[in-house]
Amino acid sequence: MQLTILRPDDWHLHLRDGQALNAVVPHTAHRFGRAVVMPNLKPPVTTVEAARLYRERILAARPSGSHFEPLMTLYLTDATNAAEIKRAKASGFVHAVKYYPAGATTNSDAGVTGLERAYDALAALEEHDLPLLVHGETTDPTVDIFDREAVFIDRVMKPVCDRFPRLRIVFEHVTTRDAVDFVRSAGRRIGATITPQHLLLNRNALFQGGIRPHNYCLPVLKRELHRQALVEAAISGSPQFFLGTDSAPHARHTKETTCGCAGIYSAHAGIELYAEAFEAAGALDKLEGFASMFGADFYGLPRNTDSITLIRESWSPPASYGFGDHELVPFRAGETIAWSLRDDTQG
Ligand code: NCD
Ligand code: ZN
Repeated sequence: MQLTILRPDDWHLHLRDGQALNAVVPHTAHRFGRAVVMPNLKPPVTTVEAARLYRERILAARPSGSHFEPLMTLYLTDATNAAEIKRAKASGFVHAVKYYPAGATTNSDAGVTGLERAYDALAALEEHDLPLLVHGETTDPTVDIFDREAVFIDRVMKPVCDRFPRLRIVFEHVTTRDAVDFVRSAGRRIGATITPQHLLLNRNALFQGGIRPHNYCLPVLKRELHRQALVEAAISGSPQFFLGTDSAPHARHTKETTCGCAGIYSAHAGIELYAEAFEAAGALDKLEGFASMFGADFYGLPRNTDSITLIRESWSPPASYGFGDHELVPFRAGETIAWSLRDDTQG
């Protein structure tokens, strides 16, 4: 069995920098036409000039002949001002601004400490019609980690939507039924990305026979009922839900340790894993909209015009990939993935 679809894009991706960047870019560039690149480097990408230089490094890391296009983002801080937002819009290569609540996840220390401090920047985003990308988890340490997304909706998402009625927002990596319901009720100006791991796994995968650091990401995997709500949203054909892998590489030794980093690496199978999830739901015909159309439409970019072909032939990712001087353990390492990318359609 084969499936040919317009070339997909990844609307939420971590590429890192330096040797790590060189190690991971080819995986994404083979599958995806474009990717929205997260700005949580150390130090974070807070200016258009830093984004321009980072973009150059990504372009230099592409395999020869690749047309892969990185879509850059800025990292919102308490100090982001309206002038920088205006420059971002004018640049043509910065496509969004990312809001990390300070302390919510990997490299988020420089994030916004209280969203009211960023209201001028949000007003500028609304004025220039640049989307705000949101890591939607409260950082209140008294809130149970499995409830942090739902609490964030009430405490932050709803008030921001009310205050900025024309601001377009992507609720990144939604993980709960609560978030799916919120996005649906909020209408077309709100979009949401969904990762492969949140479609394929529930929180049992964190503790299968022992603790599984390579299944740990943020927002953390949730209960089965939430996974089912995400699958329903992804296959619904609603243009509000689109592909964002949140592929987030960390060296093996930083995950297999007493306090392991959050992040799952999935770029090596960034479309194949979704094909598996859509097939399991009996909805392969809905994959193309989710993977190759709705994200571009939301961002106001043209859809890709070339295509890829997926084949229903299983393969096994290796135990690890090289990652600079370290190793990177990919999702499904040593196990099987049901779909492969046909070689002659690699970008
Ligand atoms: C991401 C990372 O490692 O940069 N980790 C993750 O678990 N998703 C950060 C993020 O998107 O939360
Ligand atoms: Zn992310």
